[in-house]
Amino acid sequence: MALTRREMLKLGIAGSAAVALPLQRVVSGAVAQTRIAESSLPAPFTVPFAVPPVITPHRTDATTDYYMLTQKQSTVQILPGINTPVWGYNGIVPGPTIDVQQGRQVLIRQVNKLPDRHPIAGYQPWTSTHLHGSPSLPQFDGYASDITRPGQYKDYRYSNTESARTLWYHDHGVHHTAENAYMGLAAFYRLHDPLEVSLPIPKGNYDIPLMIHDAMFATDGQLIGDDHDHSGIMGDVILVNGRPWPVMQVEQRKYRFRILVGSMSRSYRLKLDSGQMMTVIAGDGGFMPVPQPVSVLRTGMAERYEVIIDFANIPIGQRVVMRNLPRSDSDDNNISYTHTDKVMAFDVVAPSSSSANNEIPAVLDPNNPVMALQPAQAVARRTMKLDRSKGQWTINGTSWADVVASGYKKVMANPKLNDIEIWTIENASGGWFHPLHIHLVDFKILDRNGLPPLPQELGPKDVVYVGENETVRLIMRFGPHLGKYMIHCHNMVHEDHDMMTQFEVGTGGPDPIRAALPKWGSPPAP
Ligand code: C2O
Ligand code: CU
Ligand code: CU
Repeated sequence: MALTRREMLKLGIAGSAAVALPLQRVVSGAVAQTRIAESSLPAPFTVPFAVPPVITPHRTDATTDYYMLTQKQSTVQILPGINTPVWGYNGIVPGPTIDVQQGRQVLIRQVNKLPDRHPIAGYQPWTSTHLHGSPSLPQFDGYASDITRPGQYKDYRYSNTESARTLWYHDHGVHHTAENAYMGLAAFYRLHDPLEVSLPIPKGNYDIPLMIHDAMFATDGQLIGDDHDHSGIMGDVILVNGRPWPVMQVEQRKYRFRILVGSMSRSYRLKLDSGQMMTVIAGDGGFMPVPQPVSVLRTGMAERYEVIIDFANIPIGQRVVMRNLPRSDSDDNNISYTHTDKVMAFDVVAPSSSSANNEIPAVLDPNNPVMALQPAQAVARRTMKLDRSKGQWTINGTSWADVVASGYKKVMANPKLNDIEIWTIENASGGWFHPLHIHLVDFKILDRNGLPPLPQELGPKDVVYVGENETVRLIMRFGPHLGKYMIHCHNMVHEDHDMMTQFEVGTGGPDPIRAALPKWGSPPAP
């Protein structure tokens, strides 16, 4: 991989030796890997598209759906003909999709059957599972230091009382989140509610999850997880639902795509080569008040945008390509390779076979309480500065190592239950873009650099893209639970090194580590 000097400077490759962290930090082994030749990669748009399977519960009762997921290593062919060891929930990548109805409780027994060591990095893969998009209790929130070791399991409970939305569950194991997720520990979780059912938007076979992420492969098929001195893991292959640059067959009608950037470090500017708009109907926290058409969708890691694409006017036999606009040196730190400007293709093959639910309603969710929040309601204002110091990424100069060193007592903010606050997130260092995620809450983005948020950001969010030299203001209400919750950059490499801190709602909430301990052994299904 040849980097320009400009790229090397941006990546911070000139300097900054790793800093030893107290506890829980294991230095990755330096195994030499060689990137697979570009000529051995599949040509874009030759691999058929697929969606991850939906898993059915092991059992249900009056209130609860019970699942068991086993985190384990398996060998899959992501690149046709090449074997790649991966870590998946039930051994598949992405993991199985979970569908749940609002108000149904879900219990997931997460069993860690991973090997005792990462094949390249050599650390022990402890895990912690976060359901991203859920206001979970602290002990079920995937608190990074609440680890489950190989040979252990832990039951997670979710109440699913929030509005319909696209969630995802992924690993959050302290200081190894990036490696664990890059190996495949990520999957969709869709929460449905009556409002969603009532909207005439595409459903069923026309409601399609798209997990987009990038990867790089070594000649022996192993994933290459070079993090460029803790700046980011960048792949030369773009995967959608685990398939390289796939091609999907579509009908002449509208489709709803649930776009999730599952990349460790890459952000995207998605655009259709037909020049069509994509109409954003939902953000991280569910439906927008009204739909927002965009021609380019800038989206970073962990953001979810649901978009409707209409193929009605595309002649049968024609192809629409979803592109990723190449980075421009001035506005982002992504590393471009030959085919990272392509994501997937849609081949229009047939007339619409169903005219039901083929609309974009003018109004979606006019009553979301998050979107009703007003600055005058705020009882506190805080600033979070995103920066890098001594080779570590920090928030207001602190890192997760500081939280660990404090015995998990150190907090950045301590709002009372139901307090409304405005947070200014400042990325003045210019070094990188940081998609900042705040656990527990959904927030409304007030402005970016003093200007209105992007059209796709005019809905409830839990991750905000804070670009190079950007300052963003958010407003949110803290609840519904007491306790300690993480704030971090969702570049998982930054998160691990060590751009993560926490806040506490009220006092006396459940202890995120001790309130629900993992157990040893091979459990039966719950
Ligand atoms: Cu999607 Cu704390 O993470
Ligand atoms: Cu989250
Ligand atoms: Cu970051």
